[in-house]
Amino acid sequence: MDNGPGAYTTDGCAVEVYRRLPTGEDLHIIHLVAGASATILDLGAGAGRLADPLSRLGHQVVAVDDSAEMLSCITHARTVHRRIEDLQLETRFDVVVLASHLINKPSRRMRHDMLVTAARHLAPGGRALIQWHPPAWFDSLAVGDVVDDVLGEVQVQVAITGKRARGALLDATVTYTCDATTWTHTFTARKIALRDLQLQAHAVGLTIHTPNDPAVTWLLATCS
Ligand SMILES: C[S@@+](CC[C@H](N)C(=O)[O-])C[C@H]1O[C@@H](n2cnc3c(N)ncnc32)[C@H](O)[C@@H]1O
Repeated sequence: MDNGPGAYTTDGCAVEVYRRLPTGEDLHIIHLVAGASATILDLGAGAGRLADPLSRLGHQVVAVDDSAEMLSCITHARTVHRRIEDLQLETRFDVVVLASHLINKPSRRMRHDMLVTAARHLAPGGRALIQWHPPAWFDSLAVGDVVDDVLGEVQVQVAITGKRARGALLDATVTYTCDATTWTHTFTARKIALRDLQLQAHAVGLTIHTPNDPAVTWLLATCS
């Protein structure tokens, strides 16, 4: 199938889609945790879906991404063109955001490196917000399932195309439709037990607090 126009990131995200997606409740969650006038580091910020509105709410935001095309859409936040794993800023932040389920990427090594970056950039007393797919999300989906959603002006359809490694790896194709144009994105996500993630985070100096609700998709972490 032909994919929609515009640039794509190395992990297959269409810039045009991320320019159009609404902030949804993610913005409110981050703003609530940050409080007033916080310094915020947005890792994997994309087109600034969260970074720019957070800037407009009075936070000082640094948006990091390895896609120059994504970052070029950002108008308010400061941008840094870098891989998350390689980031070594002098500044420390009140809040570090790792959104978009990047923590569920299949590579354990990448997960470790992203957690190191989050820990390294947290100010004393700072908080990291990590958006993940909880294990219950993986368990609720079977191969062949199709989940439809509408996010602002974008229709979203997630098709589950595979489950491997005894359910630990889930393959999916997401189809985004807007203005009669369609973009697709295939990805693989790894199911991670909360305890395993907590242990991996603890090893790099982060405490991930156990959520009250196992279905919660934003995890809160502080320096250990
Ligand atoms: C799914 S998009 C989400 C963007 C944004 N967080 C949002 O919620 O709209 C993921 C973004 O993370 C970026 N990304 C993925 N892996 C990365 C890495 N290792 N280093 C830097 N950026 C990365 C991609 O380029 C892409 O812009």
